[in-house]
Amino acid sequence: MQIIKSIETLRETLRPLAKEGKTIGLVPTMGALHEGHGALIKASVKDCDITVVSVFLNPIQFGKNEDLDKYPKRLEADAKLAESLGADFVFAPTVKEMYPDGDPLTMVRDETLESLYCGAYRPGHFRGVLTVVSKLFLITRANRAYFGEKDYQQVFLIERMVKDLNFDIEIHRVPIVREASGLALSSRNEYLSEEERVQALGISTGLKEAKAAFLAGEKGVAKLRDIVVKSILLNRGQVQFVEVVNQKDLQKFSGVLKSSDKAVILVAAFFGKTRLIDNIELN
Ligand code: PAF
Repeated sequence: MQIIKSIETLRETLRPLAKEGKTIGLVPTMGALHEGHGALIKASVKDCDITVVSVFLNPIQFGKNEDLDKYPKRLEADAKLAESLGADFVFAPTVKEMYPDGDPLTMVRDETLESLYCGAYRPGHFRGVLTVVSKLFLITRANRAYFGEKDYQQVFLIERMVKDLNFDIEIHRVPIVREASGLALSSRNEYLSEEERVQALGISTGLKEAKAAFLAGEKGVAKLRDIVVKSILLNRGQVQFVEVVNQKDLQKFSGVLKSSDKAVILVAAFFGKTRLIDNIELN
């Protein structure tokens, strides 16, 4: 497996492979790989002839007071893991390589959802994500790209961007990978103290309870939401948002869900200083 740092080298390496008819899978990451990323890499290796894992801590998707500086960095270990799972290339460009003139002046934005849910609390985050993901699609010209469903709003926005802008790429969603306890895997779990790690189970427990209530007949949006909120508060978490939204367009539901409604509960909560997100589809 090769680690490539330059855009030009990656292009020159992938071009002949694509010409030979090899399918290229892209797994975009910010590094600090865990089993959740592992599931994305495995899916790509299974589906595609060539798998490229990008490791790029994208500064333009972080706000001023966010965790860009303390985000875990370990390229060597990431490359080892990617290689052990069958990846062919790790693309690890520097910030200068990706943004030679500083923050790009041309950016990709979603007009409706960039300021809702995660976007409401992380202004500029989604345009940073959509911009870097577009660049990675154009640099690699991958046939398929793999994203985890833990970042539900992110994968929804990427799918919509691909459709709206006619990117010639298939987006594959990979289900959330959880620890046996229920905690959704995230690079940010490393920030949690032992106590917070236990408290953070309030999110997945609440989501599971809400889904069980829904399947048992509870269709009231406020009631379903309250189940999750209570579970987080009981575990000393701070709720940022809990919303019951439509899987189709991520618009909020209110009142009572109809049996034909496809809903997903989106959550963001703090345990100590660590912000975690999670979600569950109700049907
Ligand atoms: O989900 C992530 O790790 C990042 O948002 C992504 C998609 C790699 C873009 O930087």
